[in-house]
Amino acid sequence: MTDRNVSAEKPEKRSAGIAAARLVRSGMVVGLGTGSTVAYTIKELGRQVREEGLNILGVVTSYQSEMLAIESGIPLTTLAQHQELDLAIDGADQVDVKMYAIKGGGAAHTREKIVSVSAKHFVVVADDSKMSKELDREVPVEVLPFAKELVVKKIRELGGKPELRMASRKDGPVITDNGNFVLDVAFGVIEDPAALSLQLSAIPGVVEHGIFSNVDEVYIGKTDGSVEIIKK
Ligand code: A5P
Repeated sequence: MTDRNVSAEKPEKRSAGIAAARLVRSGMVVGLGTGSTVAYTIKELGRQVREEGLNILGVVTSYQSEMLAIESGIPLTTLAQHQELDLAIDGADQVDVKMYAIKGGGAAHTREKIVSVSAKHFVVVADDSKMSKELDREVPVEVLPFAKELVVKKIRELGGKPELRMASRKDGPVITDNGNFVLDVAFGVIEDPAALSLQLSAIPGVVEHGIFSNVDEVYIGKTDGSVEIIKK
């Protein structure tokens, strides 16, 4: 997992991440997202496991969240063992007023989507800067390396401007936890995220894209320390 959004410490992320941990009850199987905001949730859940006897199982979305969950003391399971999760909590790069989200700034959106769609309830934790009237951020698209040229062509036909995500000039492209490349695609303002989502999914060689339409609730951390909760 390579994070292109290396974000500075933000107390807003902390308050959102910790507030969402209150949704977790003993006995739950919980999807653990990736990124700097949900890292606070994972650490808080680990603290409750160690100090308060919270009895949960986690399903991770990346090697990054796996390492943090293990370090925090959260017992883990897999989707093979638990097909339906009680809850998934994860960060986002942008959320619009209809609660469509763009994810994948850390190149983990494929596993994040699989885990969140496996959950009965999907909660996003984010600081206020992620909230937007419309989606206009670049959409991460995980692509099979073999299919890169075809996917680039098809995305251009849809009006997108794809850029291969690079780790660095020296190190070459970012490689996801699944062994694939990521294209970051500028579409300008996305008028119809549901339609674009279907169009991207229909391109052969697209493993998964970062438009999420399954967010149930958003915990928004504010600079004044408060957390606003919005529900679908
Ligand atoms: C990982 O691929 C992403 O979807 C993250 O969940 C997203 O980039 C949010 O990250 P931060 O919480 O670090 O902003």
